[in-house]
Amino acid sequence: MKAEIQRIGEETLRELKELDGLEALQELKVKVLGKKGSLTALLRQMGSLSPEERPIMGQVVNEVRSRLEQAWEERSAELDVMSLQKRLATERIDITLPGVRVARGHIHPLTQIVQEIEDIFLGMGFQIAEGPEIETDYYNFEALNLPKDHPAREMQDSFYITEEILLRTHTSPVQIRTMEKLFPRLPVKIIAPGTVYRNDDDATHSPMFHQVEGLVVDRGIRLSDLKGILLNFSRQMFGESREIRLRPSFFPFTEPSAEVDISCMLCGGAGCRLCKGSGWIEVLGSGMVHPKVIEMGGYNPKEVTGFAFGMGVERIAMLKYGIEDMRLLFDNDLRFLQQF
Ligand code: PHE
Repeated sequence: MKAEIQRIGEETLRELKELDGLEALQELKVKVLGKKGSLTALLRQMGSLSPEERPIMGQVVNEVRSRLEQAWEERSAELDVMSLQKRLATERIDITLPGVRVARGHIHPLTQIVQEIEDIFLGMGFQIAEGPEIETDYYNFEALNLPKDHPAREMQDSFYITEEILLRTHTSPVQIRTMEKLFPRLPVKIIAPGTVYRNDDDATHSPMFHQVEGLVVDRGIRLSDLKGILLNFSRQMFGESREIRLRPSFFPFTEPSAEVDISCMLCGGAGCRLCKGSGWIEVLGSGMVHPKVIEMGGYNPKEVTGFAFGMGVERIAMLKYGIEDMRLLFDNDLRFLQQF
């Protein structure tokens, strides 16, 4: 029996060295020391030994068992380290591999232009105002000195929703809304960027486009103030050497009215394809606010005067970037957009 116990002990030690995982270690433990284990089975037979033999055998068993337990512990620590090393090997990262490029969006060229325009006017002390895109006939036309039967209404092909409600055809209604809101405070000095709608569709017109309106109302505002502000804007937007010129025009809500031309940013004024040989490019409509419009806004036209202007954002973008077809700005073709 003693030989048998020692044989089990040695065999177990050998198997311990050979096994390669914590699971196998556990299995071996059950096989030897478990309820139905080989060593357990031998211990059960101790009952049949004589009283003299029993303590001797007990000592042998205890020796073998404590050797096994120590070996077990050592082996299990070894296997722990091995399995950790294995895991680390599979988790290793090769930092020399090329990275994965993260696709990043960027701001649409039209939004970039609006932000640039806003920055320039904020720098001159303007504030930013807004108004609704779904507008009433009153704000879009009537309060701007375009009564219902006025022929100028036909200049703008409008999208009506009901007889009284339409998609605004320009940002000028924000002039009235702003004056109503600010009265009686002075000065009124705002720009109003926004989307506008007209029934037009070709290479230079889109049914949906964007404008930036400007409005200044205060005591003693003159045409020279308009010219100074717009010259400053033109130079910041299109370059220090730009000149501007005011050409007489007509808008029902301004008097006098002027189209503003900028010296051609492509040829500098010498005449080229872009400016059609004239050296000048039309960029916006403007004028001194009509007394009736000032009055509609709640202010007294005998006390205050003002100027207003409105520019097309797409047109500014096309001029600045040399884009020939406005529809490119709305197609959202990445090959186009990624250039900005
Ligand atoms: N609202 C005019 C347009 O859309 C532009 C404009 C604004 C003209 C302000 C004069 C003053 O064409």
